[in-house]
Amino acid sequence: MHNFTSYTIHKAIFSPTYGTAHAATLVAEQLSLNISTEKIKKLDLTTPASRSSRYFFGSNDLVIVGAPVYAGQLPPVENLFRNLRGNQTPCILLAGYGNRHYDDTLAQMANIMMQQGFICIGAIACIIPHIFSEKLGSGRPNLSDLSRIAAFANALKPKFETDSFAAITLPGAAFPEKKERKFMPKSLNADLCTHCGLCAASCPTGAINKENGEIDQTKCINCMRCSVVCPAKARSFEADGIRSYLEENFSEPREIEFFL
Ligand SMILES: Cc1cc2nc3c(=O)[nH]c(=O)nc-3n(C[C@H](O)[C@H](O)[C@H](O)COP(=O)(O)O)c2cc1C
Repeated sequence: MHNFTSYTIHKAIFSPTYGTAHAATLVAEQLSLNISTEKIKKLDLTTPASRSSRYFFGSNDLVIVGAPVYAGQLPPVENLFRNLRGNQTPCILLAGYGNRHYDDTLAQMANIMMQQGFICIGAIACIIPHIFSEKLGSGRPNLSDLSRIAAFANALKPKFETDSFAAITLPGAAFPEKKERKFMPKSLNADLCTHCGLCAASCPTGAINKENGEIDQTKCINCMRCSVVCPAKARSFEADGIRSYLEENFSEPREIEFFL
């Protein structure tokens, strides 16, 4: 009979349009079944305010760290996940992506987390809806994804039975070359906007002016959270070019991959 440490699972997530957050919830639930804990806590790191505090974790914590893939890398958010500190704390990486590819994201995340005292014991790349296409990643994670996620959690179980963790290796470059970021045109319909301020308050990079709703192009990461959260549907964006390129080239559904 194995003597399980009683772990608390923490979901530490950056997810502007909630796709990665949804996948992380499924991963956390499957892990909780396999390592016999009901303690799941959520740490939403999507807004600047939520990233301004430091969070410390110990050996009874298991941290699932998750972010969407932007241009094959972590979103260009300064110091993303740098406010998390572990003490030989086991950690699971989750890259949510819109059915194109995750490229360097997992390797990049592993490097950041390792530098901060975490041991990356598993990683998963989950397909989630692509914000620039209604076809790519639509309905994902689906039922068959859920059984892949369950298989991942089940395969991690033996590592917890002995509490002996070793870092895994991941595909991709830990220090990929920074990509040039192009601002995607967005519009604000003044007739619909009620000036509620939710877009500015929710923006992951503080790029929206609270007074006039204008977007600072140097700060905007094109996550499109402003369009998604707007209760009046006053914000929209122009993605026709990229949508047709994605749908022509990446429509074939990909499978969840995981690494142990
Ligand atoms: C600026 C930007 C770049 C993206 N680049 C990629 C990519 O390289 N590969 C991919 O499969 N999906 C890509 N996506 C889709 C995202 O990974 C993801 O599907 C979407 O943004 C939702 O993530 P969230 O709901 O967790 O915020 C990109 C999305 C954005 C906004």
